[in-house]
Amino acid sequence: MTDRDRYRELLEELREHNYRYHVLNAPIIDDNEYDLLYRELVDLETEHPELVDETSLTRRVGDPADDAFSPVRHRLPMFSLDNVMSFDELAAWHDRLASAYGGEPSGYSCELKIDGLAVSLTYENGQLTRGATRGDGTVGEDVTANVRTIKSVPLTLRGDAPAVMEVRGEIYLPVSEFNALNAQQAERGEQPYVNPRNTAAGSVRQKNPEVTASRNLAVWIYQLGYLDGGPSWSTHTEQMAWLSDLGLRINPANRTVKTFDEVVAYIEDATAHRHDRDYETDGIVIKVDSLAEQVEVGFTARSPRWATAYKLPPEEKTTLLREIRINVGRTGAVTPYAVMEPVFVGGVTVTNATLHNEGEVHRKDVRAGDTVIVRRAGDVIPEVVGPVTELRPKGLRKWHMPARCPFCGNPIVLPEGQAKAKCTGGYECPSRLREYLFHFASRGAMDIEGLGYMTVDMLLNKGMIRDPADIYLLTADQLVALDGWKETSANNLIAAIEASKHQPLQRLIVGLGIDHVGWTIARTLASHFRSIEAIRNASVDDITAIDGVGPEIAGSVVAWFGDPDNRSLLDRLEAAGVSMADPQPEGPTVPQTLQGVTVVITGTLEGFTRDSAKAAVLERGGKVAGSVSGRTDALIAGENAGSKLAKADSLGVPVLDEAAFTILLASGPAAVLGS
Ligand code: IVH
Repeated sequence: MTDRDRYRELLEELREHNYRYHVLNAPIIDDNEYDLLYRELVDLETEHPELVDETSLTRRVGDPADDAFSPVRHRLPMFSLDNVMSFDELAAWHDRLASAYGGEPSGYSCELKIDGLAVSLTYENGQLTRGATRGDGTVGEDVTANVRTIKSVPLTLRGDAPAVMEVRGEIYLPVSEFNALNAQQAERGEQPYVNPRNTAAGSVRQKNPEVTASRNLAVWIYQLGYLDGGPSWSTHTEQMAWLSDLGLRINPANRTVKTFDEVVAYIEDATAHRHDRDYETDGIVIKVDSLAEQVEVGFTARSPRWATAYKLPPEEKTTLLREIRINVGRTGAVTPYAVMEPVFVGGVTVTNATLHNEGEVHRKDVRAGDTVIVRRAGDVIPEVVGPVTELRPKGLRKWHMPARCPFCGNPIVLPEGQAKAKCTGGYECPSRLREYLFHFASRGAMDIEGLGYMTVDMLLNKGMIRDPADIYLLTADQLVALDGWKETSANNLIAAIEASKHQPLQRLIVGLGIDHVGWTIARTLASHFRSIEAIRNASVDDITAIDGVGPEIAGSVVAWFGDPDNRSLLDRLEAAGVSMADPQPEGPTVPQTLQGVTVVITGTLEGFTRDSAKAAVLERGGKVAGSVSGRTDALIAGENAGSKLAKADSLGVPVLDEAAFTILLASGPAAVLGS
């Protein structure tokens, strides 16, 4: 078999496995077998760039597109749905239809209302050509590059695809992915995301498709939009079955029923199982199934008369608020939280919920002894909504922030203009110190395996560590002497501590626990300054001069490095052998001939693979875009260049062949493009 034939075969095979896994949720091979096939595909593509098919699975994640988020006019408007809030309102909707038809509708499609964001997908001759957001229903935004990264969105349809077809669906972030993302945020010391819906919407609006790809979004398709060519049907259910045959992901929880009683039963069942699923739902959508009956009643200005959404309320329960306690975090911030009688709400048992700060406690006016409403829907983080004041026993007292920290006895103060109180005990405060040490060792910072919460707590209680530098003075003999420690576990921890001495500067900066400095800012500081020494000597002005760093962050960094205790901590860490700088980049740097130049590369080049051509441009300070636009400085066109050539011509973008590209790399734009 030729490489070309094998390549075609692999494309087909992988497409099929991808469909079975992501659309049908019924894989027939295991992950290892899949990986082997995928690797073979990647190898063939690297060896033979001329074979690469733009619809290959490896092409899901592309470059940031120049036309990302540009306006897209929908071929047919994207309507929204009217809501009903109760069975009475639902019955009124049904009665209106029955009187319009002079009898019952002949059937209904009952579907879950997915809590995500609406998307329109256009397929031309079976290929995905556009993904767009709903926008105002008439004009949305182009999010094609990001939608392509969603594995349950087929890039190519199966079977006989029509000339042009547009479908609508809901993009969502699975709850399991949302939780994993938040675990990662916590490890990095970053703020958690609030709920899956907002996170999904934010992920689709990322400039860089790689970020979108990393979020593992998914899609359910629920409606056919514009269609040119293709069969004709009598019901919505038939349309959905056809879309399913084309490889689109249709929710198996959808049901087609005959009577209104069955609709009610579906709603009751869906409500009862609301939290059994790996995605959030905020209602049930009921559609008249017959397309002829749909046409008969038509639309209002904003929604179809033939469909409605039965809204589910965010789930709320009441429980007893036993106590308001406070917690001192690694930066000294004091956070009040509610300790409640355990209550099962929104699919989990909730006992604690943050109250954020004293102002929030007063605004909600919750007091120990109150019956409170707890909510957990949409918002995955449980929230105390407020007290049930009618049930408040006499004599409950308002809560106030204690004047002194219960852990160290030092004053708690509210810094001017801030909402969050602070413990003034510094690292004398055992609560703050424990959080700080735990943070220093955590996976998002120095990543010392085996130094978790319990171990930190024990070492603190035994007086064996008092600050992060003490961690590096621990010995295996000391650990073996402790209850429950064996030689192996002791040696493993010491080896992990030893290994952490060589962590990159970014991780050390995260570990230091400077206010406002999380994973992202730490990376920025590390790549700009490259050493602790350089950061220590930087002024607020030096730091604010860096792109993306504001005065509040800069002030916090300078204040941290100015504190004599922190300076001595750094000295002790350095003395213990912790690396305080990143190595300087090696070798001579390439001349930056392409600063400010954006090119698009298309077709097959002789002397470059697609990746090496791209790398050559980036190395010289240039940018590579995925599609040609008015902002493109040049199109680099190899053999078999496709539609991009015509686009460049129509926009007057200069087209360079491989020889001219080589000159462009060596000498910059003036040499080939004029100035
Ligand atoms: S049908 C003309 N079906 O709910 C029919 N919508 O306001 C229009 N949604 O923006 C929508 N799940 O994003 C339909 N199974 C489902 C849905 C659904 C979620 C969203 C959709 C729309 C909003 C309705």
